[in-house]
Amino acid sequence: MGFFSKDIKTLDDLFVHTLRDIYYAEKQIEKSLPKMIDKATDPQLKAGLEKHLGQTKGHIERVEKVFELHGVKAKTVNCPAIDGILEEADEVSGDIDDKDVLDAALIASAQAVEHYEITRYGTLIAWAKQLGRTDCANVLTNNIKEEQATDRKLTEIAEAKVNLQAAE
Ligand SMILES: [Fe+2]
Ligand SMILES: [Fe+2]
Repeated sequence: MGFFSKDIKTLDDLFVHTLRDIYYAEKQIEKSLPKMIDKATDPQLKAGLEKHLGQTKGHIERVEKVFELHGVKAKTVNCPAIDGILEEADEVSGDIDDKDVLDAALIASAQAVEHYEITRYGTLIAWAKQLGRTDCANVLTNNIKEEQATDRKLTEIAEAKVNLQAAE
């Protein structure tokens, strides 16, 4: 049985629902990152995305840990938002022949993904604290820190190199 929005009555329900949303999102990201790594040509970008794939596997494990700490079943709910972001990433990159422009597009798509994760984790951390679950908030903070660092790294790669090459 699904977890329908009519089942959400309390902030705790909403916390669990959103945790299942990010759980789904992280799993979709884990599936999509290898395709992006494949398409990337800039070595620093490729390596950065590869590193983040490893981190993403860790994010999934940490979210599972939070389910456990909170005493609820680890399961996913569909998240059309991340599906849309990943679908668009795939479509746009499929339309680009120039390798440098493609790298710039991949960075933009990857940053859209990171920002989605950051907004979800930001909310989850705030709700966990409000619910008195600092244990859950601490685990989720490890995830948001890696998403934020990845986002900053992508900006760096874009501004120092990839955007310049794409504009040539
Ligand atoms: Fe993540
Ligand atoms: Fe991420």
